[in-house]
Amino acid sequence: MAFPEGFLWGGSVAAHQLEGAWDVDGRGPSVSDVLTGGSRERPRRITIPLEEGEGYPNHEGIDFYHTYPEDIELFAEMGFKCFRTSISWSRIFPRGDEREPNEAGLEFYDRLFDCLLAHGIQPVVTLSHFEMPLALATDYGGWLDRRCIDFFVRYATTVIERYHDKVRYWITFNEINNQANVSRDLYGWVNSGFRPSEFENPRKAMYQAAHNEFVAAAKVVSAAHEIDPALQVGCMIAMIPYYPYSCDPDDAMCALEGMHQRYYFSDVMCRGYYPSWAKAEWERDGTKPEMAPEDEATLRAGVSDFLSFSYYMSMVEKQEPGDLYVRRGSGDEHTVRNPYVRTSDWGWNIDPVGLRYSLVSLWERYQLPLFVAENGLGAYDELKDGTVDDDYRIAYLSAHISEMEKAISQDGVDVIGYTPWGCIDVVSFTTGEIRKRYGFIYVDINDDGTGSRKRFRKRSFGWYKHVIETNGAEL
Ligand code: BG6
Repeated sequence: MAFPEGFLWGGSVAAHQLEGAWDVDGRGPSVSDVLTGGSRERPRRITIPLEEGEGYPNHEGIDFYHTYPEDIELFAEMGFKCFRTSISWSRIFPRGDEREPNEAGLEFYDRLFDCLLAHGIQPVVTLSHFEMPLALATDYGGWLDRRCIDFFVRYATTVIERYHDKVRYWITFNEINNQANVSRDLYGWVNSGFRPSEFENPRKAMYQAAHNEFVAAAKVVSAAHEIDPALQVGCMIAMIPYYPYSCDPDDAMCALEGMHQRYYFSDVMCRGYYPSWAKAEWERDGTKPEMAPEDEATLRAGVSDFLSFSYYMSMVEKQEPGDLYVRRGSGDEHTVRNPYVRTSDWGWNIDPVGLRYSLVSLWERYQLPLFVAENGLGAYDELKDGTVDDDYRIAYLSAHISEMEKAISQDGVDVIGYTPWGCIDVVSFTTGEIRKRYGFIYVDINDDGTGSRKRFRKRSFGWYKHVIETNGAEL
């Protein structure tokens, strides 16, 4: 049996994508509340103020704020050992810069975590999953302002002190490396509360925001250990491995440089210092972030206890002639189609082996426990006779779990948990659609707002239940 006793099987979501109740019980708006709906062809827009007649799907989500008791029943029926969700920062500090928290917001998470624990499910909690309070973005410029470090630490220590008996695993920032792609404002906005396109040197701005987040995360790791030494605080990246397009050494180098745009983030958070090539890049491009003298020591003292990551796909890199080894973008501009893999309806490469490749690469690099915090297939589901025959989802997940199993049994990787994304249908992050569905549980809501809001078990529901029951032995 490859999967260890106590392996954390579960599911993953984020507050802003499912809670709804965006203005209930004193909650303030977050950066995700000003994102319109969209689609693969029509990008989501950031609109301040909100526009009349526009749709803002995060405002309702799937109304989990009110339906969580029934939804958790369903998770328990599948046998979830854990449930990864996030705390909506603006439920606790509605503007982000207050001194005192909003008690009604804290009480909601007391109820939610108690309900999970009563069902034998341990919460795994992300502190910041694309939901910084909007006021910090509009009034401070988001994470570019160093004062956000103190605001975040105040928020994080408030919730860690409150819930440390209920929550052992904490994750600081979701997919902190998304913002490395400065070509789309969406990423800078949700990660850090600013729009890269408004800056002359967007990468400099991005590195500054990231630096402040690194310092904040390190402070939270140290503070959490002081509050309760049993706590495990991890970091989180979007792991999209780059393969070289060919055995041309230039393609290999191109892929390697592309990976720097991922590792930049995990290196600082897992090792406690910046990698050497980052310093060379800052020099070359004038992108060095400003740092306080004490930051170096803070980063070293607050190294993450584990590394969590999302894995959905791999990408392929091809070097353009004349562009050797001088990378100024996210890496994605060198991306070409992989002829060996199929893609999802949203164009995401389906590559289960890439999960093993990622696990081994990260394990070799850091030797820290790894948590597969997201994985899954966004697909069009058809509800028929009260269920969805989502064999395509079962095939996707089963192939990925099987590769994860090899990473454990053959490569000796220490994997502590697996929480497929959107275990219940939620609002898509990149497109704002609900019809891009990932769940084991179908939620009857349509993009135009119609639907009964009822929940239905998909075929994958029973399949995943069996996977958990057999601790991954039968897929
Ligand atoms: C990750 C995010 O990027 O992928 C989630 O952490 C997101 O918030 C998930 O929902 C899937 O992406 P999408 O765009 O299909 O919802």
